[in-house]
Amino acid sequence: MPDQTITLIRGDGIGPEIAEATLRALDAAGAKLRYEEALAGMNAVERVRDPLPEATIQSIERTRVALKGPLTTPVGRGFRSVNVALRQHFDLYANVRPAKTIPGVASHFDHVDLFVVRENTEDIYSGVEHYVGADRSAAESIAIITKTGSERIVRYAFEMARRLRRKRVTLVHKANILKCSNGLFLEVGRAVARDFPDVAFEDMIVDATAMKLVMTPERFDVIVTMNLFGDILSDLCAGLIGGLGVAPGANLGRDVAIFEAVHGTAPDIAGKGLANPCALMLAAVMLLEHVGQAEAAGRLSRAVHGALATPSARTRDLGGEGDTKRFTDEVVARLRG
Ligand SMILES: NC(=O)c1ccc[n+]([C@@H]2O[C@H](COP(=O)([O-])OP(=O)(O)OC[C@H]3O[C@@H](n4cnc5c(N)ncnc54)[C@H](O)[C@@H]3O)[C@@H](O)[C@H]2O)c1
Repeated sequence: MPDQTITLIRGDGIGPEIAEATLRALDAAGAKLRYEEALAGMNAVERVRDPLPEATIQSIERTRVALKGPLTTPVGRGFRSVNVALRQHFDLYANVRPAKTIPGVASHFDHVDLFVVRENTEDIYSGVEHYVGADRSAAESIAIITKTGSERIVRYAFEMARRLRRKRVTLVHKANILKCSNGLFLEVGRAVARDFPDVAFEDMIVDATAMKLVMTPERFDVIVTMNLFGDILSDLCAGLIGGLGVAPGANLGRDVAIFEAVHGTAPDIAGKGLANPCALMLAAVMLLEHVGQAEAAGRLSRAVHGALATPSARTRDLGGEGDTKRFTDEVVARLRG
């Protein structure tokens, strides 16, 4: 198989440290990847005065797959967030976040194994908001839900469930109150569910979902929901398995996929060699699966989980004694051993 070329964005803050660690791990796992380096975020502003240079867009258009470190969002530079700009430009409508209990990583639950599939382009994040009145005494933010947007995300969730032999899709909404926007999402979801008789379907109101997730998370399989609820619930689910340090995510569109760690740039520990590279390594596992390198993905996943079960290798955010280098050395040793 020829090497797959991907775009590599190292990112800001701890981004370069965890990217370097992940590249070492990918190499040791035997991943057949070539990297096109591209800039984005604060470091891109510093080097080329643009948080999202055209060359980066062109690279992703060419490779269609990117591994991205976290990005600082420069304040007051034309758009609200580089991440949001990337999602909008490439129409990355599905944000997929797995949450699976990791042996050795402290958490409140033992049997979590679920996915949150979040609609990534619509809802209250459509950017339609304004103050009302000259004195700004009120403000409006408009949630836009479309039939097309709802159908493609629910269909994505069902197709993913079928591909991964998952048993149930739970559609999360607030249609009892938001009868138009959330009602439309639910109505479309029910119609799509009829095309997948082999996958069980249920719908659940978001507040009840939040409670059930922290009481019986093991009952959930694939959750599909709109942008705002997905944003909140996917962080909640990261908390169920030990926090953002171990949470990878994928932003997927029809043509392009961008894989990333869920956490941010961690400016408080940047440059100190303390960052946990695990989330970006697990994002790389998702990337390898996406590009058809399942064996390398399996090897890397096993090595990361093995290292996480080794207290001396675990980084401090997980209560361990290790640092970025120690953890990465452990992953690499397991891959080469
Ligand atoms: N995907 C992204 O690019 C992304 C996501 C979230 C935030 N951000 C950006 O990151 C910056 C900082 O945001 P924040 O402080 O709210 O969140 P953050 O995730 O960067 O940090 C929150 C806390 O978690 C710790 N932490 C995060 N990742 C860690 C890791 N891998 N290893 C060890 N500790 C880790 C940090 O040290 C900090 O104490 C902001 O500019 C924000 O816009 C980017």
